[in-house]
Amino acid sequence: MAERVEIFEVGPRDGLQNEKREIPVAEKVALIDCLSGAGFSRIEVASFVSPKWVPQMAGSAEVLAGITRAPGVRYAALTPNMRGFQDAMAAAAHEVAIFGSASEGFSKANINASIEESLQRFAPVAEAAREVGVPLRGYVSCVTDCPYDGPVAPERVAEVAGRLYDMGCYEISLGDTVGQGTPETIDAMLKAVMQSVPAEKLAGHYHDTGGRALDNIELSLQHGVRVFDAAVGGLGGCPYAPGAKGNVATEKVHDRLVALGYATGLDREVLSRAAEMARAMRAG
Ligand code: HMG
Ligand code: MG
Repeated sequence: MAERVEIFEVGPRDGLQNEKREIPVAEKVALIDCLSGAGFSRIEVASFVSPKWVPQMAGSAEVLAGITRAPGVRYAALTPNMRGFQDAMAAAAHEVAIFGSASEGFSKANINASIEESLQRFAPVAEAAREVGVPLRGYVSCVTDCPYDGPVAPERVAEVAGRLYDMGCYEISLGDTVGQGTPETIDAMLKAVMQSVPAEKLAGHYHDTGGRALDNIELSLQHGVRVFDAAVGGLGGCPYAPGAKGNVATEKVHDRLVALGYATGLDREVLSRAAEMARAMRAG
């Protein structure tokens, strides 16, 4: 039987957070409801951040209230601080994520804190998640390159990933936020990170701006990484990372994984339908 590789769908969050048009809650709900039938175990659908920073995610509580939750699917949300965590719990998110950066410039631009300050802010969120038994995921942004600080040292990524792992994150998602990573830089980064966090606790979150995301996924597979974040229809980017145009498209990742002999457990027809919806949302 083919070995399983999981795709964590992040389009409704990482994709839609970057759209210029104000997308109505009903459209987001329709996309998520479609994705819920594709076979994902985890879908990131919401972000409890300041609406002044990311207005696109302001309707997150309504989105979580409006979707039809499919059995076996965990609906996830970003929670940068305690306020976000409490809002996510009130909206009954199944899992939450804290998101840090391996570069100071991006940390400041994205969450208005130094790396150290951000880790201190995440600690009570991690504690609260543990208390209520909610799975906590950790992101590290700018794992190879930063739009403000340039190339990022692999040791820095390893340090932040290790700190988030020690805080109780069940998985660390490694973000090539601006999609400038190459198999060479991803290789050096993974070798360093795997000194602090085992491969089976890592996920690759590769934006496709430079067109190398699929190559970076193949390289990561060689290191034993078996979870990849992707956004249906290649939606997205990050509002605080200029140039971070698209997340790697879920359907492309699926097709590459299948071609390599892995199983994703996803229904390709549903993915195509969701990708079509995502493209229509983007076109407005
Ligand atoms: P701040 O300005 O330092 O925080 O922002 P603050 O505590 O001074 O609060 C400022 C205002 O925000 C206050 O409102 C707070 O109440 C409010 P005011 O008094 O001015 O009316 N506020 C909140 N409102 C709603 N929900 C909250 C919340 N917290 C404070 N949780 C803060 C700090 C972290 C809040 C801000 O910088 C922020 O929201 N940043 C989010 C940026 C973001 O969402 N970026 C995109 C996601 S990360 C990403 O895409 C990368 C990733 O995909 C991986 C990769 O690709 O690398 C994950
Ligand atoms: Mg991202």
